[in-house]
Amino acid sequence: MRLRAFDRSDTDAVVALWEECGLTRPWNDPRRDIERKLAVQPELFLVGEDEGELIASAMAGYDGHRGWVYYVAVAPDRQGSGLGRLLLAEVEARLTALGCPKVNIQIRSGNGKAAGFWSALGYADDSASGMGKRLIADA
Ligand SMILES: CC(C)(COP(=O)(O)OP(=O)(O)OC[C@H]1O[C@@H](n2cnc3c(N)ncnc32)[C@H](O)[C@@H]1OP(=O)(O)O)[C@@H](O)C(=O)NCCC(=O)NCCS
Repeated sequence: MRLRAFDRSDTDAVVALWEECGLTRPWNDPRRDIERKLAVQPELFLVGEDEGELIASAMAGYDGHRGWVYYVAVAPDRQGSGLGRLLLAEVEARLTALGCPKVNIQIRSGNGKAAGFWSALGYADDSASGMGKRLIADA
């Protein structure tokens, strides 16, 4: 798998990957999410490809205090072969190079399966609960 920054021409493939991986939600327009990301640290939006096929993604950012990673996905037929670990190693290296001291992730309730992946990569429960407030409606 070759990792590189997302390019606008990857849009359809990346949205299809997120749908396949169950990461899209009706209240969250993935294309708007992509446009916003292209305006802020676009170099931290990574995709993985293999022979021209887009098979992985991770959308990261550093807010000056913490790093965050969203839309972490590996194509279902490629899961379980170490690609997710490889992808996160690259994300973490890029965040570390920026001086980011800690990276956070959010796991949607109902996605208990993902917790095993994050634990294997050294992520631990922070004993904090996440809250959010929508500022711009996508619908
Ligand atoms: C989560 C996801 C990115 C993992 O990618 P992957 O390529 O399958 O993961 P890897 O093969 O690199 O696995 C890395 C490690 O995590 C472990 N792991 C992966 N999935 C696991 C699971 N469901 N339960 C327990 N451990 C798991 C692997 O055993 C491996 O451990 P090891 O390296 O010590 O042997 C992938 O399953 C995915 O895209 N899922 C759907 C989208 C999603 O849930 N994203 C995360 C949102 S929070």
